[in-house]
Amino acid sequence: VAPLVGKLSKLGPPGELAAALITRLAGASSASRGPDIPQAVGSLNAVVGQAFFLPLYDLFLTYGGIFRLNFGPKSFLIVSDPVIAKHILKDNSKAYSKGILAEILEFVMGTGLIPADGEVWRVRRRAIVPALHQKYVTAMIGLFGEASDRLCQKLDKAASDGEDVEMESLFSRLTLDVIGKAVFNYDFDSLSYDNGIVEAVYVTLREAEMRSTSPIPTWEIPIWKDISPRQKKVNEALSLINTTLDELIAICKRLVDQEDLQFHEEYMNEQDPSILHFLLASGDDVSSKQLRDDLMTMLIAGHETSAAVLTWTFYLLSKYPNVLAKLQDEVDNVLGDGLPTLEDVKKLKYTTRVINESLRLYPQPPVLIRRSLEDDLLGGYPIGRGEDIFISVWNLHRCPKHWDDADVFNPERWPLDGPNPNETNQNFSYLPFGGGPRKCVGDMFATFETVVATAMLVKRFDFQMAPGAPPVEMTTGATIHTTEGLKMTVTRRTKPPVIPNLEMKIVSDSQEPARSAPS
Ligand code: HEM
Repeated sequence: VAPLVGKLSKLGPPGELAAALITRLAGASSASRGPDIPQAVGSLNAVVGQAFFLPLYDLFLTYGGIFRLNFGPKSFLIVSDPVIAKHILKDNSKAYSKGILAEILEFVMGTGLIPADGEVWRVRRRAIVPALHQKYVTAMIGLFGEASDRLCQKLDKAASDGEDVEMESLFSRLTLDVIGKAVFNYDFDSLSYDNGIVEAVYVTLREAEMRSTSPIPTWEIPIWKDISPRQKKVNEALSLINTTLDELIAICKRLVDQEDLQFHEEYMNEQDPSILHFLLASGDDVSSKQLRDDLMTMLIAGHETSAAVLTWTFYLLSKYPNVLAKLQDEVDNVLGDGLPTLEDVKKLKYTTRVINESLRLYPQPPVLIRRSLEDDLLGGYPIGRGEDIFISVWNLHRCPKHWDDADVFNPERWPLDGPNPNETNQNFSYLPFGGGPRKCVGDMFATFETVVATAMLVKRFDFQMAPGAPPVEMTTGATIHTTEGLKMTVTRRTKPPVIPNLEMKIVSDSQEPARSAPS
């Protein structure tokens, strides 16, 4: 394995990922191999220089909906078939764990809801899902509006100063501010300034991304892990976040003790509607370590994903000005001068389709990871225990046999009067939030958040790629990032001129002039 890892690590990030997998898979139990699963061998050349899920697409076109990718003595299964994806995620989900993902994220999420398996997952899922009830998500719409308004003010200044803006990092800050308030009532205010805790969150996130693409798990090497400056920084960041979370939990506990609200299904404290408050008020009987793991998991889950969705949505809008124009039409008709309400969001049907379609072309994350816990049959092929599996949502969402013009951004493919597309009504060909028991708990939250932010931004500004901006290419950590940011020119929209009503009566000087309809 070692020489192969050495060779692979020269290939750049995709090679690094492959090598990381080899290193990790070295510990996996040997699975009984179904001899007939198509094998993609000797395809390493295809992996050079791209985000790792891209070569998997070409291999899917060659080898089909399930194939084995071999690296030296180790291998993993790539699934791009909706029926097999449904089997793993839903019909036989008990037979699969989070595998490599749980190992990589352990340092930051512990046994939080995303990496957890088995009984821990079952108990925590039952405790957390009720916290994201309808009333809570509705209350969050105000928060999305306030945070988006702060971003608008920043963009307004950039527009006045004639400065281009790097939207990817601004979206990351927007969604960090939102999720901090939403999960544990903490105002990172990262759109205004960087403080120690914001920096600590980013150090931790970067580490998680590095670990998911690194050829050698240096963080596991004894002694090195204690003396490496990088690991020291990560440990300090984690310790600051943990202290902050402990303080927030303590403050919240005091608030809950003082309040005389009865706990009920749609319980929500108006001053602090956070998920943490709900959990404590519900009498959630949980260790503080587990509570911290869950809060940290939701912070990361709800931050990077929504930021990535906004980044790629605005990239797509810059490429498809006709979609932007149609979107602005809808937004102009629906939104008033105040912050969007739930009623407004329900009327923003085309905006929602734009987000649905953006998630089809850029699913976050592009690949779901599982490990088989027992023997199973996938697409008619027997597989053994311990198989590491990548379900490529990217491939499912761009399958040329399933989608007309699969690579084209076409929100119109989802009829406005039809249901919101999801994994169930699309038979697992479309998995923006996963599916089955491990489906995202924040799907409605995230949809409203990205709809509100998109609508508010395009109402006030036009967005174009900045002249001389670096080409927008993809790279991956947990979600799809750009390689060099999304540099855009933002211009304030001039309101369309008021067209005089031609049927207006000619008024004599003595009469009041007719008023045109408000624009
Ligand atoms: C799980 C996507 C926002 C919390 C997932 C999964 C996907 C996903 C695909 C399934 C992962 C798997 O099966 O391996 C997204 C996208 C988002 C988003 C695209 C934004 C547009 C959020 C938000 C929250 C959240 C805002 C929290 C408020 C979670 C949690 C899980 C999860 C806790 C794990 C659920 C479990 O394993 O039981 N998300 N998510 N997500 N998401 Fe989201």
